[in-house]
Amino acid sequence: MKRREFLKNSIITISAMALLSGCSNKMVDKCNGGNNMRVLLINSSAHKNGCTYTALSEVAKVLNKNEIDTEIIQLGSEPIRDCIGCYACRKNNSGRCVFDDDIVNTLIEKAKTADGFVFGSPVYYGHPTGRLLSVMDRAFFAGGEYFKFKPAAAVLSARRAGTTASFDVINKHFTINNMPVVSSNYWNMVHGSKAEDVYEDKEGIQIMQILAENMTWYLRAFEAAKKEGINHPVLPEKIATNFIR
Ligand SMILES: Cc1cc2nc3c(=O)[nH]c(=O)nc-3n(C[C@H](O)[C@H](O)[C@H](O)COP(=O)(O)O)c2cc1C
Repeated sequence: MKRREFLKNSIITISAMALLSGCSNKMVDKCNGGNNMRVLLINSSAHKNGCTYTALSEVAKVLNKNEIDTEIIQLGSEPIRDCIGCYACRKNNSGRCVFDDDIVNTLIEKAKTADGFVFGSPVYYGHPTGRLLSVMDRAFFAGGEYFKFKPAAAVLSARRAGTTASFDVINKHFTINNMPVVSSNYWNMVHGSKAEDVYEDKEGIQIMQILAENMTWYLRAFEAAKKEGINHPVLPEKIATNFIR
């Protein structure tokens, strides 16, 4: 299939999916698909409509088709502080970061009512963006409680390499915080330098769509379990040792 034909077919399919879910194409950044379950998708690229966004919006479209609400949160290009390890959030147990001048506390607030998460990043020198790591370190350290037990996935975009190492870095935030990691039929990555390239990466697009189907399944399974009285475990207080004491 020629490039133009492929793009045309993709747009038609996506529009049909969006219309079926009650969301127009333009609404994909925030869509109420008709159900209370909600997934936050975080784009850590400053390119608002770049490759990472394209990958995330593919995930969002399938979630919307499955009647799951989505919101794509843009971390944008404004400065975002790094964690300074002051432990103030832990000492005052506020569930907020003491620095209130960027997006971190907004994300924590949104996480409280969200049911699942997809963190997306371009690969920079073989790792996720510093922007994403600053946000995740602070949001999880201060407000980890609101992410806990909720399914999550990492999505990476690269021109060529560094995706799996970056995938690993993001997934570590989930697995230290009792979060079920949602997978696809390959490690969640797309390739490209500009948004259009991502649509050429047919395997990448399919990985995003299957990821969304699997996320839907996790969310529905957890919801059904909850109705049956099967809840997440009540965990003992965490033991933190420096290896020996
Ligand atoms: C500072 C910088 C470092 C990058 N490092 C890598 C890299 O290590 N591997 C790679 O394949 N692409 C690298 N890229 C390219 C981007 O990861 C790639 O173009 C990505 O798809 C852009 O996503 P975006 O449009 O969402 O920003 C780098 C780009 C920048 C700006």
